[in-house]
Amino acid sequence: MASAKQNLQRIVLPEGTEIRTLKAANIILKEKVAKIILIGDRNEIEKLAKQENLEFISESEIIDPNHFDKIGFYANLLFELRKGKGLTKPQAEELARNPLYLACLLIKNGDADGELAGAENATGDVLRPAFQIIKTKPNINVVSGAFLMFTPKKEYGKDGLLVFADCAVNPNPTAEQLAQIAVSSAETAKAIGKFEPRVAMLSFSTQGSAQHELVDKVKEATKIAKELDKELLIDGELQADAALVPSVGEKKAPNSNIAGKANVLVFPDLQSGNIGYKLVERISGSLAIGPILQGIAAPVNDLSRGCSVDDIVRMIAITANQAIK
Ligand code: ACO
Repeated sequence: MASAKQNLQRIVLPEGTEIRTLKAANIILKEKVAKIILIGDRNEIEKLAKQENLEFISESEIIDPNHFDKIGFYANLLFELRKGKGLTKPQAEELARNPLYLACLLIKNGDADGELAGAENATGDVLRPAFQIIKTKPNINVVSGAFLMFTPKKEYGKDGLLVFADCAVNPNPTAEQLAQIAVSSAETAKAIGKFEPRVAMLSFSTQGSAQHELVDKVKEATKIAKELDKELLIDGELQADAALVPSVGEKKAPNSNIAGKANVLVFPDLQSGNIGYKLVERISGSLAIGPILQGIAAPVNDLSRGCSVDDIVRMIAITANQAIK
């Protein structure tokens, strides 16, 4: 929050009539953490703000897609970007009025710096327009989702803080994609977690203790990640206990510079990543912040539909920090 306040970013919230989103926007504006653009029915937003005494909402910019004089411009931008994929003009005109698409078009045109949505839309619906319009950063072709895990176990990670990925996007990544996820997750650890990353590529095997094609994929991914970023501190394949616990790491992977001291955990697929972060969150009473989407050319983040107002406030601050970077 403190670093976001130093350099106010324009964060677009396409779910402008969603009440938790409005309450979070009110806090962000009151605390002067970011500038807010709300997309939605203007009358409805103003009615809700009045009902809930959200007095700072009047400082936001409200874009009502059905009464927006620049909608034709954004529809045309969408058409130009997607005509090669078969999108027609009438389809572009309709899609540009969809707040999730309009938010990405604003970012693409330099009219907003980052987006946060997902309090009422599913992950895929939030991500698809971002993939299609904003696309990935140079040298990255896979977007993934990381969590900052604030665990009560201070002996793990950086005083209990770890980065877990990919917990949100890629159901079954290839070795090349897994390698990119590792590189992006290390960047997230530095940029948002503010610690030096030590990446463990997780598996059910440690340094050849089991043989299987799934293990081979993790080994291959580790090799590729080292080529992608020669400075990266990374090792794999490692089991989770070998990655985290010094005594186990010493026994199972004595020559590893990561075993026993990993602070970024890269899961082999989305099943393990999504299940893993939710188990740690619920059973250990950890705070899971994310998914922080990594690899998109501009920050777009997704919320869980069960999110709280506080979760949204934190994610707006994180989105702003990504935009500043
Ligand atoms: N990174 C970058 N680009 C991507 C990615 C990716 N990971 N995945 C798809 N794309 C691009 C494609 O290249 C394509 O671009 P193009 O149209 O310009 O050629 C575009 O996105 C659409 O691709 P599709 O294959 O049609 O994408 P689809 O909509 O089928 O799938 C999606 C993308 C929705 C993200 C899918 O992978 C998905 O549903 N993932 C799981 C999401 C989820 O449910 N997560 C768990 C819940 S989150 C939580 O619990 C925190």
